[in-house]
Amino acid sequence: MKIVIGCDHAGFGIKDAVIKHIEEMGHEVVDVGTYSADSCHYPVYASAACKKILDGECALGILICGTGIGMSMAANKHKGIRAACCSDVFSARLTREHNDANMLCFGERVVGIGTALDLVDAFLGAEYLNNGNHVTRVAMLADIEKSN
Ligand code: RB5
Repeated sequence: MKIVIGCDHAGFGIKDAVIKHIEEMGHEVVDVGTYSADSCHYPVYASAACKKILDGECALGILICGTGIGMSMAANKHKGIRAACCSDVFSARLTREHNDANMLCFGERVVGIGTALDLVDAFLGAEYLNNGNHVTRVAMLADIEKSN
């Protein structure tokens, strides 16, 4: 798969290790920045990453900031993006399986590098359970987007 990754300054400290891990899993990574620890604004990088998914270049994405929350809020403003902010492995797997999440967000200030890599494994290793009520509910999310 082709995976897009983005971060702000508060996620920059673990971004390279996350990229290396994803590449070792056999995936290709598109890095939309930020490229230094200088203070920056997370919505810029959330948007850049979301565009890569929405234009079809990348299948899934990872966004890292201090908490993961700002990134997930910004990402979820994009129609067609289903971003989940996770700090536990169970949620990272289930959000792929049940919510068809296409963006995983987490916070460098919340999770250590070990948990970050486990979150990535769980998210990228899971598949959407494309049936029954899951399909109905994900379609309902799209309906909410259309009505707003
Ligand atoms: C930056 O200080 C921090 O606010 C940001 O990385 C993120 O945690 C926001 O949700």
